[in-house]
Amino acid sequence: MKKTIAAVGIVAGLCGTVGGVFAAEPGQIARGQEKYEYWCATCHAGDPREGGRYLPGTASLNAKYKGDRPGALADRTDLLAPYVKLVIRRGMEAMPFFRKTEISDAEMEDIAAYLARNAK
Ligand code: HEC
Repeated sequence: MKKTIAAVGIVAGLCGTVGGVFAAEPGQIARGQEKYEYWCATCHAGDPREGGRYLPGTASLNAKYKGDRPGALADRTDLLAPYVKLVIRRGMEAMPFFRKTEISDAEMEDIAAYLARNAK
């Protein structure tokens, strides 16, 4: 038990997390936003035209959550960095996965920090 608690403490410390909230380093969120707009916003932007109907990511997520959560990823307050990273490397349904030659690990960290910036 003591070992488990110590391990959790170390992991939390290494990740810079406190209670699941991701602590971004300075500049990271701005860099992440730039990369997000380049790689992700083509499908995930908030489109004023018909609730994002012309954006595959926003349209799918609008259909999935039916108004419970925003369809546009940048408006979400429930996304955590580890989940975002998993989806980037694995893809999801119609969403392609991204290789390290497209989005490096460092860039992926920045994008995840950007999308998790409002996580509660
Ligand atoms: C070609 C269009 C496309 C691109 C580009 C794209 N996505 Fe997606 N993404 C989708 C679709 C479609 C879904 C919804 C899958 C489903 O229906 O479950 C999705 C789902 C997601 C989800 C899951 C959200 C949830 O509520 O579970 C995350 C996170 C995500 N995308 C992140 C990203 C990030 C970060 C990028 C850029 C690196 C990106 N996506 C680029 C189409 C895309």
